Amino acid sequence: MFTPDMLESIKKVEATRAERMKTEPRRMTAEEKETLLKAYHPDFREAGFAEIKIGPNKGEKVPTELGHLLHSNSRLLNEKIDLNKVDYDVDVLVIGAGGAGASAAIEAHEAGANVMIVSKLRIGDANTMMAEGGIQAADKPNDSPVQHYLDAFGGGHFAARPELLRRLVMEAPDAIAWLNKLGVMFDKDEEGNMVTTHGGGTSRKRMHACKDYSGAEIMRTLRDEVINRQIPVVEFTSAVELIKDTNGRVAGAVLLNMETDDYMVAKAKTVIIATGGAGRLHYQNFPTSNHYGATADGLVLGYRAGAPLLYQDTIQYHPTGVAYPSQIFGALVTEKVRSLGAMLVNAEGEAFMHPLETRDVSAASIIRECSDRGKGVTTPLGSGVWLDTPMIEILGGEGTIEKRIPAMLRMYLNYGIDMRKQPILIYPTLHYQNGGLEIGGDGFTKTIDNLLVAGEAVGGIHGRNRLMGNSLLDIIVFGRNAGKAAAAKAKDVELAELTLSHIEDYAKALKEAGADTGDVSPLLLPKYARHER
Ligand code: FUM
Repeated sequence: MFTPDMLESIKKVEATRAERMKTEPRRMTAEEKETLLKAYHPDFREAGFAEIKIGPNKGEKVPTELGHLLHSNSRLLNEKIDLNKVDYDVDVLVIGAGGAGASAAIEAHEAGANVMIVSKLRIGDANTMMAEGGIQAADKPNDSPVQHYLDAFGGGHFAARPELLRRLVMEAPDAIAWLNKLGVMFDKDEEGNMVTTHGGGTSRKRMHACKDYSGAEIMRTLRDEVINRQIPVVEFTSAVELIKDTNGRVAGAVLLNMETDDYMVAKAKTVIIATGGAGRLHYQNFPTSNHYGATADGLVLGYRAGAPLLYQDTIQYHPTGVAYPSQIFGALVTEKVRSLGAMLVNAEGEAFMHPLETRDVSAASIIRECSDRGKGVTTPLGSGVWLDTPMIEILGGEGTIEKRIPAMLRMYLNYGIDMRKQPILIYPTLHYQNGGLEIGGDGFTKTIDNLLVAGEAVGGIHGRNRLMGNSLLDIIVFGRNAGKAAAAKAKDVELAELTLSHIEDYAKALKEAGADTGDVSPLLLPKYARHER
């Protein structure tokens, strides 16, 4: 239910609709975008960042909340962990049970490795499950991986690591074919061809989707495959520290049973960090579209062990998070809503930007509209702009919303808002970490032997901004590759004695730099988690 002021503003949106639909808003020039980003994108608010005081990225910028975790000590610092008492001994240990972790485990298992997944929640409790709009792949005759590369490279401000982006786009068609074969129910036409749409910054329609619950459908399929293969999944158990051997190679992880608080030792010839994102750190007090477990754990584990980060200072704020109703503040409103034709409109009924600019530009433009331009709609928790969803029914015909984005429709109907008839209010929400641990094209970190990273915990695949649908893609491409590479490497690994000496070295460095927060990390659960025991 909208407030009387909102209903007044909706009248203006309705009054301008027919005229607005006659012409597409123009695209911004490169110069306009740059000026806009510097003035309004949260990545450029100096107050939201700190300087890293120790480790491989010393001297670089980091979001304050992540910096706090990097400047905290291991919870094992004063614990006596007997590394000779090994609870699990495997070839490949996968930390994280989202799309990247599951894909990695499936491929490692396929390669004959003894693989185990550990997850602080349950298998599938991950950002993958929350992904809505789709997965990109250039697999239509009018498209090519080169075209996909150019779109993603430009959208990411030419900062993507070429060897990573190349792999992403070249292996995308095979990723879709793999998922299709595993049983993902992609949207298809009567002839069985995949239905594809545009996303922000795409020059071809290459977004494959499962209505607007693409991530849930992909995760369901991967989880079934993990279970069918009887790959062990240790749930409600966090990896709290990487273990090394006396030659400095990664050799497993110390695990914490989240129910009993017991520590366990998992020895592994190779380890894959697939711990996902950081939305639950709520950078700059933004709400988030992220899963409850998204607390950047893998970044902390890897960094403390000596692996460098890349682009840790660049975050994606999805332009369209829910601004109203307050009960679902920050939840994702898929970009597909704009792909299907809904325009972004301010309180005066003006279309203030092209609806499919890249995400960073769109988010900055919405923030400008609601701040300096004073053309936002006031909400109980701040302000927002309209996403003119009834346009979808006008453009695509009655029933389009129910057919193409049924989850969105249901989410709003739960609060008495029928998006087929009334526009919805949105504002940017913290959605994705563009940065993460640095890897080479083979998935291994560049400085620590036997350690691989896959999924959102990787930095550099997308550069400084990611296009829609390239994350569901990267978890599959880099997850699968990490699983294969880890299984192959494990065949040749002979570990020396296990050690946790790096956590003492880290503590010493923190102390010497005067940077010790006195806290422990990784965080494992958001600050507002209930601890009932
Ligand atoms: O808007 C969306 O559906 C989100 C997709 C993504 O982050 O790739």
